[in-house]
Amino acid sequence: MRHLLNPLDFSVEEIDELLDLASSIEADPRRYAHVCDGKKIATLFYEPSTRTRLSFEAAMLNLGGSVLGFSSADSSSASKGESVADTIRVVSCFADICAMRHPKEGAPMVASLHSRIPVINAGDGGHQHPTQTLTDLMTIRSLKGRLSNLTVGLCGDLKFGRTVHSLINALARYEGIRFVLISPPELRVPDYIKDDVLNAKNIEYREVENLDAAMPELDILYMTRVQRERFFNEEDYIRMKDCYILDNAKMKLAREDMFVLHPLPRVNEISVEVDDDPRAAYFRQVQYGVYVRMALIMTLLEVEKPC
Ligand code: NCD
Repeated sequence: MRHLLNPLDFSVEEIDELLDLASSIEADPRRYAHVCDGKKIATLFYEPSTRTRLSFEAAMLNLGGSVLGFSSADSSSASKGESVADTIRVVSCFADICAMRHPKEGAPMVASLHSRIPVINAGDGGHQHPTQTLTDLMTIRSLKGRLSNLTVGLCGDLKFGRTVHSLINALARYEGIRFVLISPPELRVPDYIKDDVLNAKNIEYREVENLDAAMPELDILYMTRVQRERFFNEEDYIRMKDCYILDNAKMKLAREDMFVLHPLPRVNEISVEVDDDPRAAYFRQVQYGVYVRMALIMTLLEVEKPC
């Protein structure tokens, strides 16, 4: 039985296959409408979410399956003190697969050790968010036609942003990837990622503060929200929350074939005027997220592809 806890749990070849399956679902979703008839996904969300939880649920419903779960720790037995290990043993009796979001790093990994069903990490603290990464990879591959030879700007809260950590891990495996890491000094990518991934693999990267200066060289600009819930004090959050605001004036500095991604939710970091720019891809990215999660559920449940 396989779980997805970290984007590196799948090889590059397996990710290619998964993205191919997601693209064939996109091309003809009706063919896949019954491949998971009778199967259930449990969404165990101990932290708020709109997109990720609904996207998992939509994915399973689109495949003909059904959904159960909870959307906050308060509405689960966690509020009575139940451990993740016990909860997953119980949920294993009810569902065929589960997606777990948790504020503590490593909670989905602990769950996987006690589970009888595949566990998908739907975001654990400031650590990893592998299904957002699969979504990001599908978006980039669909828009640019490749996952190699790209200059990728990651902008905003690179310290606490788990989507950024997972995306760096995943993209670092492709040829010719260059990163421009755009953040205030306090919100830089953690050293463990620089040491274990970027330096260890000799990946070209630069840490800069100025977004304008970086714009012209980027193929992809990945904007992120400052992660308020992970700050130790509100003053620091307020000081940094509007450190970057992408607007039309900044978009003028970018190439015509650059695309803007954002895992969402957006707060102030992308001005709504940018939404009408054809290079704004963040709402298309949400749609890709459903196809990718459909492909992932099929893969982990080892469901037969329709002929
Ligand atoms: C992200 C997350 O939860 O890490 N959202 C998402 O899943 N699309 C990004 C964020 O909350 O800023």
